[in-house]
Amino acid sequence: MSHPLDQLQADALAKLAQVNSAAGLEAWRVAYLGTKGQLKAAMGGIKDVAPADKPAFGARLNAVSKLVQEAYDAAALAHGGASKSVAGPQVDVTEPGRVYAESLGRGHIITRVRDELVEVFARMGFAVAQGPELEDDTHNFIKLNIPPHHPAREPSDNFYVDDPAKATQPRMMRSQTSTVQVRVMEQRVAAGGGQLREPIKVVSPGRVYRPDAVDATHSFMFHQIEGLCIDRHVTMVELKATLLHFARAYFGPEAEIRLRPTFFPFTEPSAELDLKVRLRPEQPVRWMELGGCGMVHPRVLAASGIDPEAWSGFAFGFGIERLAMGKYAIPDIRMLFANDLRFLRQL
Ligand code: DAH
Repeated sequence: MSHPLDQLQADALAKLAQVNSAAGLEAWRVAYLGTKGQLKAAMGGIKDVAPADKPAFGARLNAVSKLVQEAYDAAALAHGGASKSVAGPQVDVTEPGRVYAESLGRGHIITRVRDELVEVFARMGFAVAQGPELEDDTHNFIKLNIPPHHPAREPSDNFYVDDPAKATQPRMMRSQTSTVQVRVMEQRVAAGGGQLREPIKVVSPGRVYRPDAVDATHSFMFHQIEGLCIDRHVTMVELKATLLHFARAYFGPEAEIRLRPTFFPFTEPSAELDLKVRLRPEQPVRWMELGGCGMVHPRVLAASGIDPEAWSGFAFGFGIERLAMGKYAIPDIRMLFANDLRFLRQL
């Protein structure tokens, strides 16, 4: 006579082989694997087994359970159903997807605005130029026509690395990206064997440093984008046309600009650039100051070895944070540097 457990196993497998629907499979599961099923009943039968036979019976019971369970798992997979004990991922294709885009990394808003600005100017023919953030006073001041004793050079308004009262060439964290104008002009003149041979058309985005008290609109570090265009017979008309074109490309076709006369040591004439645009649907149209600009001062050209009789140029410098804050209605510059993901994810 065959062992009752062998009988149970043979039975179970034979019945399983006849199952041909999910409902039938479930009924089979209840009958054999369920809490009141036959395997459970057989387990209960162990108390009637003679003590000496218990280990063998137990081992046999485990083997049968395992085999029957595996047969069920295989059948469940074949019937497209899910079995709890099957290892590996169980995919419910009807479940709504998780939004993984939420956790995708991307550039900081300042980086993205900088790249957009560079892109707009690139379309107008401007290349990108870079210069060091640790500068010297020759490039930050002297060659930009900001002479010794000029108030802009006050130690309290600049991050000097060397003592300007002692060093002959004090180093400093640059306070403006206009330094890159000087660097580019010097490089082009050097490359031309002592004179400028081709026009210059560059923008240079980057960090600048000033020991300003931090508040909603000031930070000791911020970003500027500088522009420099030098050619034969460049006039204020090209400057204004370039700025208008930029404003419309970046802020939309309704954008208007206005130039207000002002003073910068490195440009003559100099102007403050204002932009008029409805930045967001819920905001009124208003004038917003974007930065400074002007015709490159002949002394600035000459200081870098460019003949001001043969060449002329325009320059401009905007604050990138201000542009970003205007465009995205950000009320406080500190939000841009706090690295709070709850804020950054909104942009
Ligand atoms: N460097 C100026 C600043 O930091 C901005 C500026 C004004 C740049 C006029 C220019 C310019 O190139 O022509 O305030």
